[in-house]
Amino acid sequence: VNFCSDNVTGAAPEILDAIVRDNAGPRMPYGTDDVTARVEARIAEVFERDCAVFLVATGTAANALALAVVTLPWGAVVLAAGTPPPHGVHGVQPAALSLTQATEAGTVYTPAKLAALAAAARERGLKVHMDGARFANAVAALGVAPADLSWRAGVDVLSFGASKNGALAAEAVVFFDLVQAETFAFRRKRAGHLFAKMRLLAVQMEAYLTDDLWLRLAGHANAMAERLAAGLARLPNAALVHPRESNQVFIDLPEAVISGLETAGFAFYRWGAADATQIRLVCAFDTRPEDVDGLIAEATRLSAA
Ligand SMILES: Cc1ncc(COP(=O)(O)O)c(C=O)c1O
Repeated sequence: VNFCSDNVTGAAPEILDAIVRDNAGPRMPYGTDDVTARVEARIAEVFERDCAVFLVATGTAANALALAVVTLPWGAVVLAAGTPPPHGVHGVQPAALSLTQATEAGTVYTPAKLAALAAAARERGLKVHMDGARFANAVAALGVAPADLSWRAGVDVLSFGASKNGALAAEAVVFFDLVQAETFAFRRKRAGHLFAKMRLLAVQMEAYLTDDLWLRLAGHANAMAERLAAGLARLPNAALVHPRESNQVFIDLPEAVISGLETAGFAFYRWGAADATQIRLVCAFDTRPEDVDGLIAEATRLSAA
């Protein structure tokens, strides 16, 4: 059973079915098709405002291209709350703040926290980018409107992920400032993410956003992580490293329990220093409760041994 990441998954059946259903017949290439147009309109609806939407196939492309737009060639991207000390012309110039939602620690920024960080960035003349590879997990966890976790809190551009939450390979770069989006189409083309068969990305995104599938899938992943965290945290000498707020669990466990779980066939990453007894367990849209319970039962048995 594999808890290494939410990208060890295939696609959600609803998304795969949508690809198969849409497969027959021609559609115009390079994003000039009807499905891409519908996805753009649907994303504007989800975020409750006009926005410029560009589909790409990886989170890295989404982030790199979005950040390229909001960062001048001599600009630096700030990754945490805090700005590098200025060195005048001799240093790179802080240009953008990039926040990851949900974070790489599995926690989430509330709308208020986001708004405070974005305001601090704006005061310093920085644009605000959000790496939303797990944006769905954050929205599902907080139960707030997508707008409240993005533009209403001061986010200028969002990498809106789907690949980690049920798509095969689809991410949307969403600009809330239409002027900033102007060069994006050219950058995407140069980066090789203007797919001739953009329909394949669009149909994934359309299914993802239909009937709130994205929030149901993320809600399931979050619930499985909560079940895992609750079951493991009560073991002797177990301690959550970060609060469990999305679909990732970071936990310290005795070495005997960790190696015992590995021997029993559970896959996950060890985290931190080589001698650390911290592991990361990630749940996904298709994590089965019985697999979560199986890991907890094995860890419980190992703890008592
Ligand atoms: C927060 C975050 N952003 C971006 C990425 C990169 O996504 P991709 O592997 O699709 O390029 C990852 C992948 O693990 C991620 O966890």
